[in-house]
Amino acid sequence: MKVDGTPHRTVWLEGTTVRMINQPLLPHRFEIVALADHHATARAIQNMTVRGAGAIGATAGFAMAQAALLASEASFHKDIAQAAAELRATRPTAQNLFYAIRTVLDAVAAEGSDRIRARQAAVEVARQIADDDAACCEAIGTHGAERIGAGARINTHCNAGWLAFVDWGSALAPVFVAHRQGKAPFVWVDETRPRGQGARLTAWELSQEGIPHAVICDSATGHYLRTGQIDLVIVGSDRIAANGDVANKIGTYSSAVVARANGVPFYVAAPTTTIDVGAATGGAIPIEERSPDEVRYTWGLSDDGTFTRVRTTLAGGPARNPAFDVTPAELITGIITERGIIEASPAGIASVARR
Ligand code: MRU
Repeated sequence: MKVDGTPHRTVWLEGTTVRMINQPLLPHRFEIVALADHHATARAIQNMTVRGAGAIGATAGFAMAQAALLASEASFHKDIAQAAAELRATRPTAQNLFYAIRTVLDAVAAEGSDRIRARQAAVEVARQIADDDAACCEAIGTHGAERIGAGARINTHCNAGWLAFVDWGSALAPVFVAHRQGKAPFVWVDETRPRGQGARLTAWELSQEGIPHAVICDSATGHYLRTGQIDLVIVGSDRIAANGDVANKIGTYSSAVVARANGVPFYVAAPTTTIDVGAATGGAIPIEERSPDEVRYTWGLSDDGTFTRVRTTLAGGPARNPAFDVTPAELITGIITERGIIEASPAGIASVARR
């Protein structure tokens, strides 16, 4: 996708350096950060400099490549195993992270004791993961756009646009494609408390593409669903269980319930790398609980142009911050994958799951 007319990806590898868009600064400032080793890259995943399932996965793949490139000769496989453990501990919910780490580990292991080939394989496979993510999302856009009629009013939650992946995005890819097809979609953008991915990132992406939209408080979504002002909901996913249950940003479940109560189609868009066949149901998906300070404080640009953090609660007041929730399969109209739109059911998932 383009930023001020220039094509960009979210994250990439240059030599042994990982470069990525610094997402917490958006929409106020567009900045690229450079990360010298896998420790720095792991911290960037944990502190959400990069976030979103696909982008986290691609970043973890590149971090594993960094680890392979910088590992010592004497303890090559031990160093890489330690890097994998460090990266796995960064964020627990996004399946793409675990998929990418495992894929790079397998590629390195396949080269046995040939260190030169193992390093090359790590880099090649990490780049393939990123390219595959971009290609999957573009295909999701094509499939999903079939469900978007002329002038459709779409609601989305969080940011499952291109910033959450390497390019294109999942939930927003069908919107980008429909816009280019001349269908003139309109998007209701949930603000997405507490981190504000909708208000900060989704709205910025839509502005860059010239797509009409409005940011709404998360609590306004039910109103627009009930009053017939939303034709369909499309959200992303961080992990999909074998039975079709879907983990996504906190607040997704409530939207799905209200969409069902009002007969509005509720779609999930995700590449098949987000499927975890090891999780029989959504109950097996680990839900990340982040710092309560993300609830207590908000931040942004003040009118004098400085970044400011303000507390909205009583000092030290109790707060909880689950980052994700699970939407049961029966509330989902369909899952838009790169291989087509499937039913959120064991049979649907089995028809597209990788391994
Ligand atoms: O906490 P985040 O920002 O990494 O959350 C992930 C998300 O962006 C959403 O849950 C999204 O809808 C699915 S990931 C493409």
